[in-house]
Amino acid sequence: MYQLDEIIIKRQSCRSYEPKPVAREDIIKCLDAARLAPSACNSQPWRFTIITEPQTKTKLADLLKIIGGNKFADEAPVLIAVAEEACPELMPGVLKKWDCKHFAHGDIGIAVAHLTLKATELGLATCIMGTFEDKDVKELLNIPEEHKTRVIISLGYPSDSKERGKNRKSLDEIARFIE
Ligand SMILES: Cc1cc2nc3c(=O)[nH]c(=O)nc-3n(C[C@H](O)[C@H](O)[C@H](O)COP(=O)(O)O)c2cc1C
Repeated sequence: MYQLDEIIIKRQSCRSYEPKPVAREDIIKCLDAARLAPSACNSQPWRFTIITEPQTKTKLADLLKIIGGNKFADEAPVLIAVAEEACPELMPGVLKKWDCKHFAHGDIGIAVAHLTLKATELGLATCIMGTFEDKDVKELLNIPEEHKTRVIISLGYPSDSKERGKNRKSLDEIARFIE
């Protein structure tokens, strides 16, 4: 089993998949890791739709190509649409005056991080994708109108698991200490 630091390094966007199905129990483990993520007031605003049925998956993959990318999406045996529940009521009277959707957006990000890191631990690979029309995805997947699809994640076995290395800003560029 990998240590967290190794998993963080190993997780990378995968854009080429083996045509091998993912065991349902592994999909469940990934979803469970997301389920346990923290959220503002424990509101848990995430809703997951898991697509393995080939025709629906192909249609969803087509919706991801709106700006020409994501041609690999249908190769992945699993696509997971992550939607944000309509504005959850956060501690009425205390946090209500704030824009709770702001929290929900961040909450979804944390859940997606948990899911993708768990997948990596299981030897699976993922790519988080954001280019699609929310309304088209909701219509295809029968997601409630008042929800917002935030990202779609591809999940499967990578056809090439070579680590590409990380292209990231240095710590000096993104962090400062006040001491
Ligand atoms: C919200 C979000 C949307 C993204 N959308 C896409 C996408 O539509 N297509 C794609 O190939 N990668 C997409 N990515 C992946 C990023 O390009 C990638 O995470 C980034 O370049 C860092 O590379 P790494 O994931 O391999 O470490 C997205 C990532 C995030 C977090």
